Amino acid sequence: MNPVHCITQKRDGHALDADALTALIDAYTRGDVPDYQMSAFLMAAFLQGMNEAETAALTDAMLHSGVVLDLSDTPGTKVDKHSTGGVGDKVSLLLAPIVAACGVPVPMISGRGLGHSGGTLDKLESIPGFRTDLTVHEYQAQLTDLGLVMIGQTDEIAPADRKLYALRDVTGTVECIPFIASSIMSKKLAEGIDALVLDVKCGRGAFMKTEPDARRLAETLVGIGERFGKRTVAWMTRMDVPLGRAVGNWPEVEESIRGLRGAEIPDLMEVTLALAGEMLHLGGVADSPEAGQQQAQEAVDSGAAFDVLTDLVEAQGGDVSVLHAPDTRPDVPEPIDVVAPDDAEGAVQTIDALAIGYAAVDLGAGRRTKEDTVDPTAGHSLAKKPGEAVAPGEVLARLYTHRTDDVDRIAEDVRAAFTITDEASVVPPMCIDRYTADGWQKL
Ligand code: URA
Repeated sequence: MNPVHCITQKRDGHALDADALTALIDAYTRGDVPDYQMSAFLMAAFLQGMNEAETAALTDAMLHSGVVLDLSDTPGTKVDKHSTGGVGDKVSLLLAPIVAACGVPVPMISGRGLGHSGGTLDKLESIPGFRTDLTVHEYQAQLTDLGLVMIGQTDEIAPADRKLYALRDVTGTVECIPFIASSIMSKKLAEGIDALVLDVKCGRGAFMKTEPDARRLAETLVGIGERFGKRTVAWMTRMDVPLGRAVGNWPEVEESIRGLRGAEIPDLMEVTLALAGEMLHLGGVADSPEAGQQQAQEAVDSGAAFDVLTDLVEAQGGDVSVLHAPDTRPDVPEPIDVVAPDDAEGAVQTIDALAIGYAAVDLGAGRRTKEDTVDPTAGHSLAKKPGEAVAPGEVLARLYTHRTDDVDRIAEDVRAAFTITDEASVVPPMCIDRYTADGWQKL
């Protein structure tokens, strides 16, 4: 296998066969192909596209770059969920403990921040001490004991995605259906699930900006899941405006804790409960997704889901004291207020999730190079959301950062992300459509 040949073939618009793709992925995973050549290949494939057979071969090669777990000895129907990426998307942090609290085991392998979007791993690691690098043995043991385990790709499980994901994050090669589908499905199929729920985000802050593109992604993901005999359901949900009010790693953990303790966070809880209901149905403990949604709500109301989150953090070495008093964390920087301009009068119509996501990266919540470390406490809190009235000088958002350079420019970007007019604003439902092997269903 000559990597230069793969790059030039792709650059010139030719399809690669499964043998060539497998050899390339294997060599990159072993470290025999350097990042600079893989970056060139990724950009060539991003620009030229990959056909269905190439997407399937890429997924298979990434899946088999590590072990494929067999959890058939662990009782219960194992169900996971994955999002295609959004801003303020902390749904997994709430949903996984909710579903586990209702008796469905959740083995979850997640990713870090990607481009302008946040990642569950970085959020979990913002809890002091939390380990996301469990061994396969620890992973299986914890799933059996607790019914929930949340880790990242490792050298053992989905190692190709671990490397490619970090490279795509910083090379402008994220928004590509074959890459997203193979990345998600290689780790989900490796983790030992029986069924999978996908949250396919659509809109300004998503990697798929339009409904036709989001539909194509959902169909590709479900097609791969079904090919491997896993029941796979995709929900298409809105991602024009950040989900909830917090964006950033620790800020989102803090908001998730409040959500699990019953705080009113309408858009976040709408998506969380809908997807949790679907998982409980697939997991066989609810007669329908609607009944599952009711059970999920009860797990929040009773405090059972918060208790499972606490158990999870303890089991994975995290400091549970921050869960009980999240607003007393000493390393959170003083907030910087972003206020509405003098001519702002009316209500927030929309908040550009893409601009807010990039601003969060600039505040330190994401990476600009592979070597960057993230600041766990950096991010924003949105004081206003669409539909809420605004007067001149009122706080729109609070920024948290340890960086001192460029803060004025970031604050200006965040201010410009808000559209404020005197028209009545309508906040649409978050869930758009649902897709299964039987086709699309309007929600
Ligand atoms: N989530 C992933 O795991 N990979 C992607 O490429 C996008 C979202």
